[in-house]
Amino acid sequence: MALITIPDENRTLRNREAVTEYLGGIGIDYERWDSSRSVAAQAPADEILDAYSDEIERLKVVGGYVTADVIDVNARTPGLEAMLARFNREHWHDEDEVRFIIKGRGLFHIHPRESAVVAVEVEAGDLIRVPRGTLHWFNLCQDREIRAIRLFQDPAGWAPRYTESGADINYQPVCLGASYFPAQGAGG
Ligand SMILES: [Fe+2]
Repeated sequence: MALITIPDENRTLRNREAVTEYLGGIGIDYERWDSSRSVAAQAPADEILDAYSDEIERLKVVGGYVTADVIDVNARTPGLEAMLARFNREHWHDEDEVRFIIKGRGLFHIHPRESAVVAVEVEAGDLIRVPRGTLHWFNLCQDREIRAIRLFQDPAGWAPRYTESGADINYQPVCLGASYFPAQGAGG
């Protein structure tokens, strides 16, 4: 379950409805997909895509996406630092950025034109759709691992376009994560 923080307002939202509503209000689609699949998180990419084919096909129809793949990034990924450096500065794309998280965590910062910067921490089971033109940046969490399904309208055209605003420097890429709740299930 994603959690969002609005650092400038000292707010954190963890409730599913509240997260979905807040993100919807700034144009970001958020969904939870059933995680009780028979596919393992480390299964080959084609098995992952097959297991989620219904959802992928639905999104393709809605968003005009033509291809889907599975990206794996972890501490052993060659060129990891260079890769991360491409995406941890404020940028936008001419295409939607669509991710369904299979494993690991990541932190999207969204910079709406009319409201405060929002940090969206995503984990397994979370789908996030960042529409084209939305200012954002991305970091891995402390465990430096993420595996995700990506959907593309045109894979050849997907590249970051930087604002060079420096806005990203003002926000710490810190994930709170599940460990925020030391006794999972205890209390409300
Ligand atoms: Fe991006």
